[in-house]
Amino acid sequence: MTKTLLHEIAAQVGTPCYIYDQDKITANYQRLAAAFAGCGIYYAVKANSNLSVLKLLCELGAGFDVVSIGEMRRAMLAGASAERIVFAGVGKRDDELNEALDAGIGWLNVESAQELRVLSDIAQAKGLHPNVALRINPAVDPHTHQYLATGKGSSKFGINVEPALDLVAQRANYPGVNIAGVHAHIGSLLFEPATYAQTMQVLLDFVAECRSFGADLSHVDVGGGFGVAYQPDEPQLAVEDIANAMLPLACADGVNVQIEPGRYLVAEAGQLLTRVLYTKTNGDKHYAVVDAAMNDLIRPSLYGAAHQVHKLMVDGQWAMVNELSTQHSYEVVGPICESGDFLAHAVVLPDLQRGDLLAIQHAGAYGFVMSSNYNTRPRAAEVMLHGQGWRIIRPRETFESLVAGEL
Ligand code: LLP
Repeated sequence: MTKTLLHEIAAQVGTPCYIYDQDKITANYQRLAAAFAGCGIYYAVKANSNLSVLKLLCELGAGFDVVSIGEMRRAMLAGASAERIVFAGVGKRDDELNEALDAGIGWLNVESAQELRVLSDIAQAKGLHPNVALRINPAVDPHTHQYLATGKGSSKFGINVEPALDLVAQRANYPGVNIAGVHAHIGSLLFEPATYAQTMQVLLDFVAECRSFGADLSHVDVGGGFGVAYQPDEPQLAVEDIANAMLPLACADGVNVQIEPGRYLVAEAGQLLTRVLYTKTNGDKHYAVVDAAMNDLIRPSLYGAAHQVHKLMVDGQWAMVNELSTQHSYEVVGPICESGDFLAHAVVLPDLQRGDLLAIQHAGAYGFVMSSNYNTRPRAAEVMLHGQGWRIIRPRETFESLVAGEL
C-alpha cells in the first residue's frame, strides 16, 4: 500500500477512515483458490460486506456465505447469482427463507430440526426442492477466543451429530428439501491444520454413516475460520497447510468440498486511519486520544484483540521505533465515554503529536461491519485503493442521515 496516498486520503476524505487494498484482496483470493483448487469458495460476507469488496470477489470467482437476507441482497447487488450463495445462520426468519427460496438460493445450511421442518414446508408449498446441508456441531475444540468458538458440543450452533443423523435417516418426512450436504464451522481465528483435519473427518464419517443407510450426501462444507496473524510474533497460517491436511481425506470419499473464509481474504487488506486529537499523561500512562473509537473498531474492546498501530510520517513512511527516536508506550484511546473505549494498549510508538496520523492494521475484517453509531458518531468513510489510485466506496455518514428516521 503506498503510504503517501494515506496522507492524501486523510486530507480529502477525513478521518477516521477505512482503507482497503484491492490488490491485496485479489492476491489473498488467488492464493486461497490455488490451495483449494476444485473446491467451492464461499466468501463469508459478514467479514466485510461493502459492495465494492463483494463485487471484486464476485469477479474473482467467489461464491458467498450469507447469514441474513440483507447479506443475500448485497451479494446479489454485487453481481452474484443466487445459485452461488449459501444461506447459513442459526435463526432464519420465515420471510427470509421465503425470499431466499424465491431467489433460487444455491444452498441452505440448516441448524435445527425445527428449521428443517419450517423450510421443508415452505419449499413444498412453493413446489421447490432446495439443496440443504445440515450444520452439525462436531464437538471439536478450535483453541480460540471463547466468543469465536462455535463447534463445541453444547454451543448454540448446529445440530449434534446423532440427532442430525436421525434427520437424514428420516428425510422422507421432509419432502420439500434435498438433504445433500453436511456443514460445520467450528470457530474463527484458527491456526491448527490438525483441527481442520479433525473436523473434516467428523464430516466424512457423517457422510459415510448416511451412505450406510442409503442417503448419498455429495457436499461437505468445512466452514471458515482461517486465522491471520495480527502481530509480527504471532504464528502465520499457511492456507496450503490446511488444504493439505484435509483435502486428501475428502478426495478418497468422492465428495465436493466447500469452504467459507471471511477474515483471511480481507483482514490484512484493510487499515483504519485515524488522527491524534490530543496527547496527555495520567499517572504512569501516556494517552493518545484519537478520532476513531470503539464504535468504529470494536475488536480490541470486545475480544481483547491486539492490532498493530503504525505512525505515519510526513514523507509517507512508517515512523519506526529505534534507539534514536523518543518513544513512549501509548494507550491509544477514542473519544467515547467508557473506559472500555480503546484501540490499543501499551503500543510503543515514536513521540506522538496532535495531528499525527495513525494506521491501525489488519482492520479489513470485522471492522466497519461491526461499527455502530454509539455516542451519535457517524460511521467512518470507506475507501478502496486500486494500484496508485483510490476511490470512496462508502462516504462518511452525516448527522442528518443518523437522525433522518427519527424526525
Ligand atoms: N462461516 C460461518 C458459519 C461463520 O459463522 C463465520 C464467522 C465464517 C464462516 C467466517 O469465519 P472467518 O473465516 O472470518 O473466521 N467478529 C469476530 C469474528 C466472528 C466470526 C463469526 N463467524 C472477530 O472480529 O474476530
